[in-house]
Amino acid sequence: MSVLEDAISTMSASSSVGEERPDLDRFYTPSLLADELVNLATVHPSSVVDFAAGTGNLLAAALKKWPNALLYANDVDADAIKQAGERLPLAEARSADFLSSRFHVHNTGEAQGWSIILLNPPFSQREAPVHVPLGRHSGLRCSRSMAFVMTAVQYLSAGGQLLAILPSSTLLNKIDQTAREVLQSTYSVEVVREPAYGLFEGADVSTYFLRISESDRPAFPSVTRKADLQSWKIIRGSISIARAHRRNAGTRGWVHTTGLNQGGISHRYEFPGQAYGKIAPSGSILLPRVGRFGSDKIVLVERDDGEHLSDCILAIQHSALDPAVIADLLKSNFSQLQTFYGGTGAPYITRDRLYAFLAEML
Ligand SMILES: C[S@@+](CC[C@H](N)C(=O)[O-])C[C@H]1O[C@@H](n2cnc3c(N)ncnc32)[C@H](O)[C@@H]1O
Repeated sequence: MSVLEDAISTMSASSSVGEERPDLDRFYTPSLLADELVNLATVHPSSVVDFAAGTGNLLAAALKKWPNALLYANDVDADAIKQAGERLPLAEARSADFLSSRFHVHNTGEAQGWSIILLNPPFSQREAPVHVPLGRHSGLRCSRSMAFVMTAVQYLSAGGQLLAILPSSTLLNKIDQTAREVLQSTYSVEVVREPAYGLFEGADVSTYFLRISESDRPAFPSVTRKADLQSWKIIRGSISIARAHRRNAGTRGWVHTTGLNQGGISHRYEFPGQAYGKIAPSGSILLPRVGRFGSDKIVLVERDDGEHLSDCILAIQHSALDPAVIADLLKSNFSQLQTFYGGTGAPYITRDRLYAFLAEML
């Protein structure tokens, strides 16, 4: 057997290191299926990565198809990644939990991203039914396999493609609905192999292939994105007065989320004494920081001396863009904005998540 043949010969689940970690889902992709997946790529990659590479079966198929591409592998299972490194000429191998910040902190230097991302992520939901992607889509809650996709997709280079083998449940289930909407509104997303049972020996699960294509959006995180973000300023309001003590104030007073209505400020509340608290200047855009709301609560501050804000409101300013344009952008990307609101009780957004959304939106 030649070195290349040796490298690309498939390792089955049974040849993996022990079975003491069933949560890892070591259902390694059979060689024919791995070939089928990489043959569905329509770009010619300079670099290929698998963030849950196991012993490297998907990367072995990539090596066969694109012998000159740089191959990168990560897997939380250090023994599996060692085996991948022994059989494949990897440019880099890592062993980190892809759904933990350890991987991503280390990776912020990878500004250009990868031209092809291959994934056959773990599917099982044993330890938790709800998972949180890291990075740009951290406002989402979704299944484990979808959390891998939503975390991985931000590492696509401009014009790159992500090819994933996923459980068919992710096409219809409620938990992944928002993730599906975000993918569809942001990328070109295609089911390139219909759902089918029996593709993985020993796993009673229906799977399909998904292809996600970046158009010409810049990769994340890029230096220009960071520079762009410096043009944004987000102010969080500071006034907090219990409902029982709020008195309507006519035209002067502080603004709470209840006063953001139909694109304007319907009412304000009286200050107990002197006016105080953070002011959103004229031309900034207000939106609730907490709670479920409609796009009519996105409101432009028109008053020359600004508005005093409740701590449930955020104000957004941009150093160059026309405020009306920002308001329109927020409204036209409203369903995506909602996905950046997270939390176990009332949904809320942090300033960091809002910055991430603004970076995404532009
Ligand atoms: C279904 S196997 C696929 C392996 C390989 N991509 C293939 O197709 O042959 C899933 C892999 O995900 C890895 N894995 C599970 N949880 C992980 C995590 N949090 N971060 C990185 N890898 C993980 C497992 O160790 C396992 O190798």
